[in-house]
This record gives sequence, C-alpha cells and structure tokens, in this order.
Amino acid sequence: MSNVHLIDHPLVQHKLTLMRRKDASTNTFRTLLHELSSLMAYEVTRDMPVQDIDIETPLETMTGKMIDGKKLVFVSILRAGNGILEGMLNVVPGARVGHVGLYRDPKTLKPVEYYFKMPQEMQARDIVVVDPMLATGNSAIAAVDRLKKLKPKSIKFVCLLTCPEGIAALQKAHPDVDIYTAAIDRQLNEHGYILPGLGDAGDRIFGTK
Ligand code: URA
Repeated sequence: MSNVHLIDHPLVQHKLTLMRRKDASTNTFRTLLHELSSLMAYEVTRDMPVQDIDIETPLETMTGKMIDGKKLVFVSILRAGNGILEGMLNVVPGARVGHVGLYRDPKTLKPVEYYFKMPQEMQARDIVVVDPMLATGNSAIAAVDRLKKLKPKSIKFVCLLTCPEGIAALQKAHPDVDIYTAAIDRQLNEHGYILPGLGDAGDRIFGTK
C-alpha cells in the first residue's frame, strides 16, 4: 500500500488554519496557498535524484550536487490544481508542467476528460500530480489512470487536504502512488465536500463565488 505523508510542519499548519477561515479573502487564500505549496514542495522533492557537478568557487574547484528539474513534471488537475502549481514552481522553476481537465458527467457521475496536455517523453519523467482537495478521489484516480498509460518513472499525488474516504479510494485504485497532504480531515459530506474542510477550493482561489 502507498504511503501517506502528513506534512505537519508548524508553518504549514499555521497557514492552513488561516486559509480555512471563512472570512479569508480571495487574495489572502491564494497567497497562503502559494506559500504553503512551496513549503510542501520541499517534502515532495526530498528524494529527488541529484547529480555530481564540478564547479569552481572563487577559491578552488569542487564537486557540488544539483537536481535535474527538467525530469520532474507537475501535473495540475484543472482548475484548482493551478493554485498549488505556482508555489511548486517557485521551488523547482525548471520543472515541466502538464494539465488535466476533468468534469463530472451529471448522469453517470463519472469524470470525463476535456483537456490533456503533457510534455514529451513522459517515460523519462517523475510526475507530481497536484490538486488541493482529495475528496471522493474520483478525479485523482481518473487523472492517474490516464497518466499511467504514458508509463512515467513514478507518480506522486499532492493535496492540501484529504479525508479517510479519499485516501482509501486512491490507495485502492493506485497502491503505488504516495500521497502528500497537510491535513487529513474527519469525513466527506453527502455532496462530496470535506468536513471541516475549507469549502470549494476553486471558488476560493479564483473568487468565483
Ligand atoms: N473539492 C473542494 O473544492 N472542496 C471539497 O471540500 C471537496 C472537493
């Protein structure tokens, strides 16, 4: 079974609490999400491979270590994933970016893909899928199903918040995909919202409600 990495650093927890408050403005919410995503990026990239690189300091030559950011692809599940994307790119500016657009068919309630754009040569890349809320898990599962067809080296999933139902669903469908989250909340409600949660992440990021 995959690992669930709970990122419980005090700075992450502090910012998340500020974001959850219903009176946080759109600007505050978005700014905090970017800051928090940059902090989460440190944890998600902890095991990234580094290469030895010879350099010259002002005093002598030495061998330093560098990552190859281009091997990493952040895949944003539209539209709320874009809120995390920006913070992640602050930390790994050389990373490539992919986008997946999914909507829920009102009859079947199944996710339907309306957009899918990835960099080339995905077989050589490690993927980090980003979406602020892992709730029912349906979008995450559909996105990972699709990405696995491209045979990437690895896939991780990063969210801000999840709940036991979302973790169980993603782990069942994709036991090889590690989950990174800043909190595991109590439960899903009957409308698929996380409780206590923070409401609709997309609306809060983009001010659409
Ligand atoms: N998506 C959201 O934006 N919020 C939730 O609570 C669940 C899914």
